[in-house]
Order: sequence, then C-alpha cells, then structure tokens
Amino acid sequence: MKFKTIEWKGNSVRILDQRRLPNVVQYLTCKDAFSVARAIRTMAIRGAPAIGVAAAMGIALAAKRLQSLRPEVFQKEMEKVCYQMEQTRPTAVNLFWAIERMRRILQVFDSKNVEGLTLKLEREALRIYREDLKVNRLIGRHGRVLIQPGHGVLTHCNAGALATAGYGTALGVIKGAWAEGKRFHVYVDETRPLLQGARLTAWELVQERIPCTVITDSMAGSLMGQGKIGLVLVGADRIARNGDTANKIGTYSLAVLADWHRIPFYVAAPTSTVDLRLSTGEEIPIEERAREEVAHVAHKRIVPKGAEILNPAFDVTPSRLIAAIITEKGILRKPFQKNLNRVLLG
Ligand code: MRU
Repeated sequence: MKFKTIEWKGNSVRILDQRRLPNVVQYLTCKDAFSVARAIRTMAIRGAPAIGVAAAMGIALAAKRLQSLRPEVFQKEMEKVCYQMEQTRPTAVNLFWAIERMRRILQVFDSKNVEGLTLKLEREALRIYREDLKVNRLIGRHGRVLIQPGHGVLTHCNAGALATAGYGTALGVIKGAWAEGKRFHVYVDETRPLLQGARLTAWELVQERIPCTVITDSMAGSLMGQGKIGLVLVGADRIARNGDTANKIGTYSLAVLADWHRIPFYVAAPTSTVDLRLSTGEEIPIEERAREEVAHVAHKRIVPKGAEILNPAFDVTPSRLIAAIITEKGILRKPFQKNLNRVLLG
C-alpha cells in the first residue's frame, strides 16, 4: 500500500484527504488541534479507528503548542482541547476511547512537569497509532479462515487502511485471506450518500489487485438471491455489551438480507470499538449529518426543494443477526455478552 492515512510529523499531522479520493491524492498538513478536529468533522479522515488516532495526535499537537503555559493553565487548556475533539463525531467509540487514554496521561503523571507531560502525550498518541496497526494485522490473521476460495464477499462502506492506522479491519480480513493464496471476489456496496465503498474501498482493493465489483446499495439482495454472496463482512463504529453493532447506514439492511438468505454476516473490529457501558445498541448515539449530502450527487441537487430528507450516518444491527465478531483476540461467537466480557475484562 503506497499511501499513509495519517502520519505524525513531529510538529504537524499529515492526513490523506479522503474527501477527494479516488481522483485526487492530496494530503492535509494539520499544524494544530483545531485543524485536526476540523479534518475529523468534515470527514477528510473518517473510519472509527482512524478518527481515534487523529484525535490523539491532535491532542499531542496541542500540548506541544501550549507547553510554555503555567501547569494549571496548561491543564485547563488541554481539557478544552479534549472536549473539542469529543464534539467532532458522536458514534464511533474509538474516538472517545483514544481521548480518554490521552486524558489519563494528563491526570496520572506529575502535572507540574509540563514538558514531561507533553512528551508522554506524544508517546501515547504514537502508541495508539502503532497498536492499531498491530491489532488490524491480528484481526486479519484470525478472520481469514472465514473466507473460502471461490467465495463472493460482500462489504459495505470502508473498513480498510483508510479507516484505520493501516491495513484495515474488514478489509484486513480480506487482505489476510488473499495473502494466504485464497482466490475469491469482493462485492463493494457503493455506500450512499458519501460513497465510501465506491470511492475508498474499491480504490484500496484495486491497489491490492484484489478483484472487486462495485454495486449500488440496492443490488445486494438480488446478488444474494443469485447465490453470488458467500459471506458479508463489515466493520463497526460501536459495539454494545450484547453485541448489537453500529456501523454505516445500510449495514442493518444487509444483515437482514443475509439472514433471509442464510448467509453468514460477520463484523470485524478491534476491542476498542466495544463499549461495555452500553447494554444494547439502542443506547448508541447515531450521528445525523447534513441533508445536503443526500440532496446532492456530485455537487448537483437531485432532490426537489420542499421534500424532507433524512441522513443518519449509521444504523444498528441487532446481535442476533451477527454470526461472529472478529477481534484481535480471536473470533467471538454467541453469547456475545459473555464472550466480549471475557476478552475485555479477562
Ligand atoms: O462515516 P464513516 O465513513 O466514518 O463511517 C465508517 C464506517 O462506518 C466504517 O465501517 C467503520 O468505521 C469501521 S472502520 C474500520
């Protein structure tokens, strides 16, 4: 893979601007936490693990800029930065998980030593980045057994290198199986309204030389009916204690279709996506995005003025429709509550 989704540059963060892919490969240089927060909010960088990494790096950047302040003022300003990062996007829990790790550094270590704290924050952000890379490789290694030669694998949105520090979760499983020598075909939902499947997942797969076909979101049922899909494999933005999973809008419909056609539906996600504080998916906050995203195609309005528009960015798939959750700790099957508890709490 010739691109880096996000890169720590010491005094700035370099982010591949995903809004312009696949036609333009352009990087943004974010020199402060504000511009990192803007990149997350405007989806220049997106995908649950990737926005967690970005937030952590943004916080580390802020510390560097604020380190000449008196310790009490530094702490107050840093809390404001953490809060600002939390306001960027509400659904993916990896964002809050990464911010919490950075907050812990601010709370646990000697608050009088601002320089030392700044260094620790930088190290923690880099650790979060490296850990994610490692975790994705493990997800790929565990999950690859689920793909058989000749399978049609259907995926939705983008859960690849672009959505993570690198390699990817659902696409990590696909890459892992392909690297093992298995040959199969990937069907990619275009993923309206922002087309992460058509623009980003297909772009990654073409670079990996993994054969893929982009379909409109409404084609999935028909392909399943024709026997072309052997499994569905998606990422996740937040998983509740019972296994209910929030992912890109349209995921729930795929799970229902897969259930009807008796096709296994798998979720691939790091354990940092699991939110044990939530008992069911009903408690997951769902981001509602601008109506313009639905009203326009390629900057041209396609919906008549006067029509109402809905634009929830995510939906929740009930755990009973999920065959297994592939994590860095292995493939978890039902009962999810017991098995998630076991791997997360030991
Ligand atoms: O709105 P996005 O593009 O951030 O949504 C991303 C997804 O829904 C991904 O499937 C999810 O974050 C998993 S990424 C490994």
